[in-house]
Amino acid sequence: MDLASSIGGKIQKGEVLSAVDKYEKYHVSYGGQEEERKSNYSDMVNKYYDLATSFYEFGWGESFHFATRWVGESLKESIKRHEHFLALQLGLTPGQKVLDVGCGIGGPLREISRFSSTSVTGLNNNEYQITRGKELNRLAGVDKTCNFLKADFMKMPLPDNSFDAVYAIEATCHAPDAYGCYKEIYRVLKPGQCFAAYEWCMTDSFDPNNQEHQKIKAEIEIGDGLPDIRLTTECLEALKQAGFEVIWEKDLASDSPVPWYLPLDKSHFSLSSFRLTTVGRLFTRNLVKALEFVGLAPKGSQRVQDFLERAAESLVEGGKREIFTPMYFFLARKPESDSN
Ligand SMILES: C[S@@+](CC[C@H](N)C(=O)[O-])C[C@H]1O[C@@H](n2cnc3c(N)ncnc32)[C@H](O)[C@@H]1O
Repeated sequence: MDLASSIGGKIQKGEVLSAVDKYEKYHVSYGGQEEERKSNYSDMVNKYYDLATSFYEFGWGESFHFATRWVGESLKESIKRHEHFLALQLGLTPGQKVLDVGCGIGGPLREISRFSSTSVTGLNNNEYQITRGKELNRLAGVDKTCNFLKADFMKMPLPDNSFDAVYAIEATCHAPDAYGCYKEIYRVLKPGQCFAAYEWCMTDSFDPNNQEHQKIKAEIEIGDGLPDIRLTTECLEALKQAGFEVIWEKDLASDSPVPWYLPLDKSHFSLSSFRLTTVGRLFTRNLVKALEFVGLAPKGSQRVQDFLERAAESLVEGGKREIFTPMYFFLARKPESDSN
């Protein structure tokens, strides 16, 4: 029932269906153009998260990201370890002021602030997610040390040189331009301090002339609210152009003993992630269908579930063919000498 009542986020319930229509029309399979997605990125991404957030929370939990996986770990354990890894790479120490760029409903923010005794500000452009995040921060007891800021990461209303560390988890892929986004992060970071991220990218194995590859990329874009998935090499170049010294970078998918996409793979069964399995997904599908039919879930809910399902399949395909990664990791420093 929580899922049904929150589908659509801040969108009026009677307008969910037309929001789905508008959202789909941004994308290639509905005749949409990359340029239009880029110039309207804020509207497109906000519509996507209003429509998809409750499904994410229902199926995945409070952290909306993938993780490297080890044998014997539950998905939740892997997700937390992935977050701890970021905190360790950034060398976070108690009392530091940290910025989480594109923070979702704050799952990583709560974990990282408790893990490292830091104060984390979550920046997010989606009002519904911030409302949800504030409530979850209060319940977790981190509302005194952590906060949220509703803003666009392409133009942050934050002073220069104000954070001891910045991280972004599977969020800056929504930026219409990587350089513009990294440059803003660079500006708000104190000199000598670090930025770390997990980026969604196409890998070197992606062939832009291969139609199957193109289809996988387009389905991931529509299913995940993305304007255009960049290559790892493009992200690396944009970081350097923004002024960062890159300490190290790697596609961590290649180090994962268990594939990152396993929870979405229909051939996989897990009791601890039951809602993501074929049976669990079928159950949710029928539940949403029934709730939409009796008017408890807004009209258009099933269509949202449809594009999320298609995205899940393309993510698995992209992962299996190693043409896509959700964990291109980098650790980059703003030079000590640069104080803007
Ligand atoms: C896949 S979610 C990841 C959320 C979070 N990092 C996590 O791992 O749980 C991407 C997030 O980026 C945010 N986002 C996308 N575009 C944004 C923008 N232009 N400015 C600020 N946040 C943005 C979305 O609202 C969403 O919260």
